[in-house]
Amino acid sequence: MLGLTNCAADGRNWRDGSGRLPMRRLKGLVLAGGKGSRLRPLTATGAKQLVPVANKPVLYYALEQLVAAGITEIGIVTGDTGEQVSGAVGDGGRFGAEVTYLPQSAPLGLAHAILTAREWLADDPFCMFLGDNFLMGGIADHAARFANGAAAAQILLKPVADPRAFGVAVLDATGRVTRLVEKPNDPISDLAVIGVYFFGPEVHQITPTLVPSARGELEITDAIEGLIRAGYDVHSSIINDEWIDTGKKDDMLEANRLVLGAIDRCIEGTVDGDSTVVGPVVIEAGAVVAGSTVRGPAIIGAGARLTDAYVGPFTAIGPGCTLTSCEIEHSIVLERSVIRNVDCRIADSLIGREVTVARSPLKPHAMRLMIGDHSMVDVVS
Ligand code: DAU
Repeated sequence: MLGLTNCAADGRNWRDGSGRLPMRRLKGLVLAGGKGSRLRPLTATGAKQLVPVANKPVLYYALEQLVAAGITEIGIVTGDTGEQVSGAVGDGGRFGAEVTYLPQSAPLGLAHAILTAREWLADDPFCMFLGDNFLMGGIADHAARFANGAAAAQILLKPVADPRAFGVAVLDATGRVTRLVEKPNDPISDLAVIGVYFFGPEVHQITPTLVPSARGELEITDAIEGLIRAGYDVHSSIINDEWIDTGKKDDMLEANRLVLGAIDRCIEGTVDGDSTVVGPVVIEAGAVVAGSTVRGPAIIGAGARLTDAYVGPFTAIGPGCTLTSCEIEHSIVLERSVIRNVDCRIADSLIGREVTVARSPLKPHAMRLMIGDHSMVDVVS
C-alpha cells in the first residue's frame, strides 16, 4: 500500500511518500440499506450486511478494506435496519474510521443511495462499496490507481459463469467500457460489475437525470453509462481476486470457506484432554471444547460450548452456541444457537441466531418444526 503522507492544506489532495504524485483523497460510501430478500428468513428482521463470515459481519470486511486503502472518512447508507448497523459499527473508531450515517428514504437503487449521500459527499471523489460484497485481496491498489488518475469513474469486473444476476459490462478492443446492462436476460458479456466503484464528482451531474428501471430502481449501471455517454473517462480493471456477492446461503458459505481457508491456528479457549483439535482452528476466549473433535479450518466463537461434538472443516460456530452430541461441517451457525443430540451430520447449512435444532424424546416420533417464512429444510430420508 502507498504510504499516504503530506496532506495538503485543504485536506483533499495527498502525495505519496515520494512527494511526486498528487493524489485525490477519497471518501468511502458503504451501502448497508436494501432488502436482503435472498437471505430470508435471516434478513427478515436483521441487516444482511451483518450476517457473519468467519464470525465477523460481512460489512466489517468492507470497512476494514476501505481503511486499509487509507479511506477513513466513511458514510454508511442505511435503511430499515439502520439501528442494527449503527449499533454494530458505532462511530467507526475501532476500525480507524470516522463514520457518518446516511439514512435512505427507501431502497430505491444504488444510484439513489448516491443522491441520498450527495450533501455529505460534497464534490469529493469516493469509493462506493456495497456492504454485502466480499472481496479477497482488498481495494488498496484500485483506490491508489483511481486517486492517482483523473478518471470520472473506475469499476472492477470479473468474468462469471452466469452474469444474469449482476450488472454486466462490455469493453472495446482497447479495454474501454462501452456499455453496461443491469441483470441482462441475455448476457452481452461475461464481465460482472463488482460492488466496489470509484467516482469523481462528475457522477452528480448524472444521478439526478436517471429514471427508475423496470425493477423500480435508479441503477448504478445507468449512472455509469450516463458518464460514458457524456464523454467522461470510465476506467475498468478485470480482477483475479475472489469476489462474492453474499446474497444467498451458498455465497455466504463460500465466503466463509475463503476466509477460514486463510486463518492461523489460535486456541484461547479451553480444550480438554478428551478432545482433538486438528489444523487451523480458532477457539476464542471463553469457549469450551469437551470430548469433541474440531477439524479445521474452523472457528469456535467466544463462550461457545462443544460437548461430544464434531465440528468439521469450513465451519464457523458463533459466540455463545451450545453443541452437544452432534456433527456439523461446512456451515455457519450464528450466535447463541443450540444443536443437541442430532444423529445425522449437518452440512452446507446456515443457521440463524438463538435457533434450537434438537432430537426430541417426545412421542409421536415426528419432526416438529417452527421455521420462519422463506426457510429451507432438507430432510434426510
Ligand atoms: O454485487 C454486485 C452487483 O450489485 C452489481 O453487479 C449490480 O450491478 C448492482 O446493481 C448490485 O446488484 P444487487 O442486486 O446485488 O444489489 P442489491 O440490491 O443486493 O444491493 C447491494 C447493496 O446495496 C446491499 O448491501 C444493499 C444496499 N442497497 C441496495 C439498494 C437497492 C442500499 O443501501 N440501498 C438501495 O437502495
